[in-house]
Amino acid sequence: MKHIVLLNPKGGCGKTTIATHLAVYASTMGLRVALADHDKQQSSLDWLKTRPKYCADIVPIAACDDEPLEGNFDVMIHDLPGLSISNQASVASTCDQLLIPIMPSPIDVKAALRLWVNLSNMGWLDKPNMKIGVIANRVKANTKYLATFDSFIERMNMPRIGSLRDTQKYIRALDAGLSLFDLPPNRVAADLAQWQPIMEWTGLFDMEDEELVGMFGLEDEIQPAEDQFVSLEEMNQETQMEEEKNEEYDY
Ligand SMILES: Nc1ncnc2c1ncn2[C@@H]1O[C@H](COP(=O)(O)OP(=O)(O)OP(=O)(O)O)[C@@H](O)[C@H]1O
Ligand SMILES: [Mg+2]
Repeated sequence: MKHIVLLNPKGGCGKTTIATHLAVYASTMGLRVALADHDKQQSSLDWLKTRPKYCADIVPIAACDDEPLEGNFDVMIHDLPGLSISNQASVASTCDQLLIPIMPSPIDVKAALRLWVNLSNMGWLDKPNMKIGVIANRVKANTKYLATFDSFIERMNMPRIGSLRDTQKYIRALDAGLSLFDLPPNRVAADLAQWQPIMEWTGLFDMEDEELVGMFGLEDEIQPAEDQFVSLEEMNQETQMEEEKNEEYDY
């Protein structure tokens, strides 16, 4: 079983949002998925309770209530609370992939710096069996601070694996027990494209799967060469256009 852990002591950076999306995605792929909520707030478990019955199956684990992290699963997604990592040391022993969402704001960047130093001091950055990826979350294109944020990530040599824009679609989808992967792909095409590199990094992305490629809206673009993928520039342009249109969807 693969263990994917969402971690960042900074509250509200997107751990639950990304954990729920990964769980839906893996489940849609036909994998047996558990979502382990380590947070007393139980946001992931609350979301699962509101999830419509027809949606792909995800097994809840109340890790916050010491429910054992066991079962016959292909992948277990761990949604950690916004607590200091010294309280979460046990996670490191099982974690295969550590995902760290960071928001482009001065407060979040300072917290991320502290987290990075702590991870280094605790030896997590050098663990051979643990892959670490950073996701820039709630990104607002063309804001002045974004350049500062980008250069911070670069200077710290953080392994950035993707960026997710700031959009109400996440809030509306989660409110209905859904994720963007449950919505009609043409309504969320630009956002699904942003998930593509993240899924590839997790190893959950299967470019051979036609249904999946359709879900990402890449039927006409799929090519083996890397430069055929949607570029960041194109993505940003599309995102900006969409924001300007300020579309409202009624789901
Ligand atoms: N890309 C995004 N665009 C818009 N809203 C987002 C995005 N990502 C997360 N949010 C919203 O930001 C808020 C905080 O996100 P989330 O609950 O996922 O963070 P968290 O790291 O799990 O927080 P906590 O540390 O409190 O558990 C939520 O209301 C969520 O819907
Ligand atoms: Mg959370």
